[in-house]
Amino acid sequence: MQFHVAVVGSFNLDHMLYVKNFVKAGQTILADDATIRMGGKGFNQAMGCIALNDHCVLFTCLGNDGQNYVHTMTHLGLKTDCIELVDDVTGSAFIQLDQTKENCIVVAPGANNAVSIAYLKRHEDVLTHGQVVMTQLEIPMETIDYLSQLCHDHDIPLLLNPAPAVKLSDAILRHMTWLTPNQGELSILTDMPTETMEQTIAAARYLVDKGVKHVVVTMGSLGCLYVDDTRLEQVDAYKVDVVDTVGAGDCFNAAFVHAMMEHHDPIYACKFANAAAALAIQSKDSYSAATIDNVLAFLKAHEN
Ligand code: RIB
Repeated sequence: MQFHVAVVGSFNLDHMLYVKNFVKAGQTILADDATIRMGGKGFNQAMGCIALNDHCVLFTCLGNDGQNYVHTMTHLGLKTDCIELVDDVTGSAFIQLDQTKENCIVVAPGANNAVSIAYLKRHEDVLTHGQVVMTQLEIPMETIDYLSQLCHDHDIPLLLNPAPAVKLSDAILRHMTWLTPNQGELSILTDMPTETMEQTIAAARYLVDKGVKHVVVTMGSLGCLYVDDTRLEQVDAYKVDVVDTVGAGDCFNAAFVHAMMEHHDPIYACKFANAAAALAIQSKDSYSAATIDNVLAFLKAHEN
């Protein structure tokens, strides 16, 4: 099935630096390679939806230099009518990917800061026609607050990938259908340790007690942990060769939402999302790897 997904979030130009080891304070190092590509958690989630054949409207802002990127996004299948070009620089992310395929990212939000409440109000009609909304935290927090209330008022399910993590208000938590932190983000959201599985479970349960309907904690090679008010289950990751981890989490989120919208059981949705992430990390082009056909074929090939 195809769904109408609204993604509210960031667009960045990702400056990729392929290094042996992350640069340390005071060091100058040479990268093995460097590229610039389109990214941002909003853009990546949106492309994840397109790869799964969903209709996706991206709500974001770019700088005045961004027209060519908007054309490219339209060409890639995204609905770009609500994208605004503003008097700022397009967001940038500076990403080191080391030889172990770990990454570290610094984001300069630039035009993403213009994804404001006023911006959402200008596009509210289109936004509230979505069947589901996805977002992340590379846009202003007051926008997230407004968006969560709007989705609640219109009975639209909302997924928040809380990255980069900051503490969220109780009102935002109460309005959240799906919250998908990794373990580090979960610790920041809850002020609780998340080093062990027991600690991770306790922190996820804390968020459910606060009113989040479903918490999915992503745990890298350990897969993910699903928690709601009656269920708790760890879903193993698939073991694959890692090429590029950047954007895999965003594909995971798009795939999880897709499966939930198809009314699958949340544990199946976690498996489906793990499969999408496994495909994404085997490629430098995460979203074109995690297509619906590839995900379904991957799941079939890995049936027990
Ligand atoms: O999740 C990966 C994304 O995080 C990158 O594309 C980068 O832009 C940062 O937003």
